[in-house]
Amino acid sequence: MLGPPGSGKGTCAHIISELFDLPVITTGDMLREAASNETEYGKVAGEYMNRGDLVPNYIVNGIVRDRLMKPDTDKGFILDGFPRSVAQADALDNILRDKGVQLDHVVFIVLEDEKIVGRLSLRRSCPECGAVYHLTSNPPKTKGVCDHCGTDLIQRNDDKEDVIKRRLEVYRRNTQPLLDRYEQKGIVRRFQGDNPLEKIPGLLQKLLS
Ligand code: AP5
Repeated sequence: MLGPPGSGKGTCAHIISELFDLPVITTGDMLREAASNETEYGKVAGEYMNRGDLVPNYIVNGIVRDRLMKPDTDKGFILDGFPRSVAQADALDNILRDKGVQLDHVVFIVLEDEKIVGRLSLRRSCPECGAVYHLTSNPPKTKGVCDHCGTDLIQRNDDKEDVIKRRLEVYRRNTQPLLDRYEQKGIVRRFQGDNPLEKIPGLLQKLLS
């Protein structure tokens, strides 16, 4: 899943996961978990994330490699939030080569900056299963509680306006250039980030079949 912060990568990744019964590997969630557990790497990661900067590659690449070597990814997987730079895309190529698989699709989600800040400030996330909600467009059935696992929802530390702007800058500088790389491979599938939520499963099914 490729696209700016708040474009709907996590939302679409979880829908694709249900459609095709594939695990979602979300680097942001894995890093937030490490930060809240205050592991050695987690403490470093938390500092970068709270500023809206990319966490160093020596942490992220290792986490992704370890996760992709687990057997539940053998039938396929969805990467949400990785790679985010040319160096990470190179690392991913090496991991995929070692695993003997290749990328089938890069879902690139398109959304204008003006819509992003409004979305992220009203987002609520489940720290347990990673489900994402929006207070007006996609609220949980019970206020403040995850529909899927009953955990209390949280607001992320980096969903503040100044940090959102920084995340957008970092995205433009580091991540957007990856689009060319995957366009050249012919695997980019563009997806509009403001489709009505109820239409997204059908549209993604069509896009990826
Ligand atoms: P990460 O957690 O990956 O954040 P992000 O890329 O900034 O993306 P978001 O999770 O904010 O948004 P999203 O596109 O998933 O949108 P969502 O579906 O939630 O990364 C956070 C930080 O971790 C980074 O800044 C970095 O520090 C670090 N990090 C992570 N990966 C890293 C890596 N590889 N290398 C280095 N550092 C890394 O949707 C947003 C809101 O909109 C929700 O409320 C949702 O309900 C709503 N919404 C979604 N779609 C729709 C729709 N169609 N209509 C109406 N509302 C919608």
